[in-house]
Amino acid sequence: MSDFSDRLIAWQRRHGRHDLPWQNTRDAYRIWLSEIMLQQTQVATVIPYYGRFLEAFPIIADLAAAPLERVLELWAGLGYYARARNLHACAVAVVRDHGGAFPRDPAQIAELPGIGRSTAAAIAAFAYGHRGAILDGNVKRVLTRCFGVAGFPGAPKVEKGLWQLADSLLPACNESGEIEAYTQGIMDLGASLCARRRPTCALCPMHDICVARREGRQDELPEAKPS
Ligand code: ADE
Repeated sequence: MSDFSDRLIAWQRRHGRHDLPWQNTRDAYRIWLSEIMLQQTQVATVIPYYGRFLEAFPIIADLAAAPLERVLELWAGLGYYARARNLHACAVAVVRDHGGAFPRDPAQIAELPGIGRSTAAAIAAFAYGHRGAILDGNVKRVLTRCFGVAGFPGAPKVEKGLWQLADSLLPACNESGEIEAYTQGIMDLGASLCARRRPTCALCPMHDICVARREGRQDELPEAKPS
């Protein structure tokens, strides 16, 4: 158990949100739908769309059976429409290849349309308590700052190191929902206090261990793409 994960879990439990429509469920369909919608869209925007989708498609078989046009209609306004096309294709694949139940193995989840390694790990953590690292843009910002990771995080070598770091920081096991709190916490920290511009370091649970804060390099990390 790392100091980092202890701090993050305590922060999430105390300051995180626990009442969002996709929380307090183990239904992989609902969790997957929320993760896809949240990929490039803020929580407040997602909430009404999420409700309308579940009303229209209470189970994944309903989504799979719907015409793509209906899915695109309900998605209108959320942007990044490839997400909606992949959403439909994924529902079709889960019904066709997995009998309508999301696979439990993160490697199998990651093979479905529109789901990468990080989203697969988040779904497996929230739905099944599976212990696995996530690494999206927000998490990259938290890790590069806290641990002073040099290089552009999109570069394959840097990204590989970040995955290793993310793995090494996970809570040791998953007693009492730790991986769920940890996974939600690292996303929320990146989306709130550890903002791209003017992060709120004074309130951050990593305040005294963060390399970027100690060295006043919050604006330099993560490093920009080399031009
Ligand atoms: N972005 C992607 N997944 C998220 C989640 N579960 N909560 C908040 N933001 C997210």
